[in-house]
Amino acid sequence: MKNIAVFASGSGSNAQQLIEHFNKGAKARVVLIVTNNPKAYVIERAKQLNVPCLLVDKIEFEKSTRLLDELKKFEIDFIVLAGFLWLVPDYLLKTYSDKIVNIHPALLPKYGGKGMYGNNVHKAVIANKEKESGITIHFVNGQYDEGKIIFQKKCNVDPVDTAETLAEKIHGLEHKYYPAIVEKICSER
Ligand code: GRF
Repeated sequence: MKNIAVFASGSGSNAQQLIEHFNKGAKARVVLIVTNNPKAYVIERAKQLNVPCLLVDKIEFEKSTRLLDELKKFEIDFIVLAGFLWLVPDYLLKTYSDKIVNIHPALLPKYGGKGMYGNNVHKAVIANKEKESGITIHFVNGQYDEGKIIFQKKCNVDPVDTAETLAEKIHGLEHKYYPAIVEKICSER
């Protein structure tokens, strides 16, 4: 049984999908949620789904060993970022080398990098009149959205789409594919 920690900064709909998906299987479990945002709705979701949630501040996250200690305590094997907005520091990348994945709501390498998150991404895609967008699941390295790509899935961007309707389509893809891809990658490591 592999133990997964999901890091999230916002609503946490992907975190919820991951928790529910792995609750049904026997090979892995989401045993910890980590957030940097005391107001994130993911905290409420974790409570409702009975998964412990750890709140970290920036200094702790970047400079202390508290998070690593907690990850060890929960015997975490694999880290899944799901709408987590901070850059992952070196000590985590070293400890969990090739065991940290992220999901990005666009077709990387386009529309990635610092500041490209949430509706900023969808607004930029629409402003550039792209015909398609999608999701990218990738390994995490020390740069925003630059690790090796594992999986992509496209969707159409229609002329009537707004950032909100596009976000909805993309969330649909994320919920459909992220848990299964995480399961596959996690089981290979
Ligand atoms: C997702 O669109 C994900 O691609 C991005 O942040 C969003 C998080 O959504 N990295 P949620 O908090 O899981 O609903």
